[in-house]
Amino acid sequence: MRNKLAIANWKMNKSRAEAKEFCEQLRQAAPELTGVETVVCPPFTSLYLVAEQLENTGVHWGGQNCFWEEQGAYTGEVSPLMLRDLRCRYVILGHSERRQILGETDAMINRKLAAAIGAGLIPILCVGETLQERENHRAREVVKEQLDQDLRNLAPPTAGLVIAYEPVWAIGTGVNASSDDAQEMISFIRERLAQSLGPESAAVTPILYGGSVNSNNIAEIMAEKDIDGALIGGASLQVSSFVTIARLIANA
Ligand code: PGA
Repeated sequence: MRNKLAIANWKMNKSRAEAKEFCEQLRQAAPELTGVETVVCPPFTSLYLVAEQLENTGVHWGGQNCFWEEQGAYTGEVSPLMLRDLRCRYVILGHSERRQILGETDAMINRKLAAAIGAGLIPILCVGETLQERENHRAREVVKEQLDQDLRNLAPPTAGLVIAYEPVWAIGTGVNASSDDAQEMISFIRERLAQSLGPESAAVTPILYGGSVNSNNIAEIMAEKDIDGALIGGASLQVSSFVTIARLIANA
């Protein structure tokens, strides 16, 4: 059995005051959020506050990125150990915004994954094709390449691993992938995982969909058999919509 997941990716949003208000409201709703694991990934500046606010609520938290070294002269970076120190359970790695805007390569993401797993974090590895790649019928090839390179030489992670299929053209655009397209790619991802990490790991790895998820489209997406939850950007900034989506994931 795989966990169902609702993961909030706040990206570069929210002051500490706004993060606190969100957590106070989420704490109220948390006892009803059964049957789904909820995770909040705030910017680093709010992570300590979110950890304090969500302690013992059943809601988990995580970083949106981390570096591959444990400590040292790496100005501006945050290590997996530092995230563990804040009792993070998760870290998002390889988000397309980091790949495209900040030039992260698969080789870098591979090192980050190894370091995060070594520190006991559960990585949420994001993969997905651009619109041009999809139109050129290269979506599978691109996702396969990302998975193969990002997971190269990694042993099956003991704490776990989460994959998020996020087609780049669906992120922040209001145009989500059709549930059929998402299902097709996610079942392909599970096949690839079986080859790279082994069938046991592939069977227990939650694979999420991300890209313009909202409370109106999540039920249809979750009706697909291989989709285990969602990585939610814009619609995770309001507690009410995040909680509605989490409930719909739980009930799917
Ligand atoms: P979105 O972002 O839900 O705003 O499309 C998803 C993501 O980038 O993780």
